[in-house]
Amino acid sequence: MTKRLRSTLVLLILLLVMVWAVPVPAAPHGGKAPEKRAILLVTFGTSVPEAQKVFAGIEKYFQEDFRGVDIFWAYTAEKIRKKLAAQGQELLSPEEALARLMAQGYTKVGVQSLHVIPGEEYTDLARVVDGFRSMSHQFHPILSPPLCNGSADLLRIRDILLANLPKERQPGEAVLYMGHGTPHAADMAYPALAYLLEHKDPLVYVATVEGYPALDDVLPLLKAKGVKKVWLLPFMTVAGDHAHNDMAGPEPDSWKSLLAAQGIEAVPVMKAISEIPAIVEIWAQHLQKAAPGLYGSR
Ligand code: CO
Repeated sequence: MTKRLRSTLVLLILLLVMVWAVPVPAAPHGGKAPEKRAILLVTFGTSVPEAQKVFAGIEKYFQEDFRGVDIFWAYTAEKIRKKLAAQGQELLSPEEALARLMAQGYTKVGVQSLHVIPGEEYTDLARVVDGFRSMSHQFHPILSPPLCNGSADLLRIRDILLANLPKERQPGEAVLYMGHGTPHAADMAYPALAYLLEHKDPLVYVATVEGYPALDDVLPLLKAKGVKKVWLLPFMTVAGDHAHNDMAGPEPDSWKSLLAAQGIEAVPVMKAISEIPAIVEIWAQHLQKAAPGLYGSR
């Protein structure tokens, strides 16, 4: 390192330390910053354009439920953020979105996880929100849990799903919901929901792509009951890549093809659970409970 470079570096470091040390008051001395409220809706995201439309419906619901609160979005899937960035669509990560809201002077931010279960995406989000909460006494992000946050939620979800089964379904035809599934402990929500559903309608099933139960666990049950036709629906926030490919795709390993190989006709229905207002209501009520100060009358 040359002498000149070294002294430039020292000067730069000194400058940085000085800038760092000067306190920047966010509010007049002794006063509190005016309250500015926001909601950050956080989803995994999807690269399927027609699946993205469900986000507008969710936003509208929250807008009506939380009048006067500004609504923003963040996406937890880095892969999807990168893919859409390449197409010119800027999606923010939860970190980026919270940093912006903080810089814009928001004081109270309800962070709603639009995930289905409290799995990896949710636990990562919780870590980010915790970090931001400890960063400034002016900025209060409050995390609200995902859809399946306990048995009471699962009982409600069971009733909502059973009230929204395909109208064209005939007696003897089964319904199979595709959940995502995960090696995370929160995977337990899927067998729990399957148990609750089965006790109300013995031909309604849940299986997952990456957790338990798998399709292989449900196939023998369908065969034992002599089921000839199954309605396939995503138990996911969006009917995205998994629904289009793993559930309904033409490949031999899609659920549709695997069922057909067993002599069972599978009819995919591309309707995400977030298209059912009663489901969005569960998320919204989680937020009302987690951040009561955000809630305005509907
Ligand atoms: Co996935």
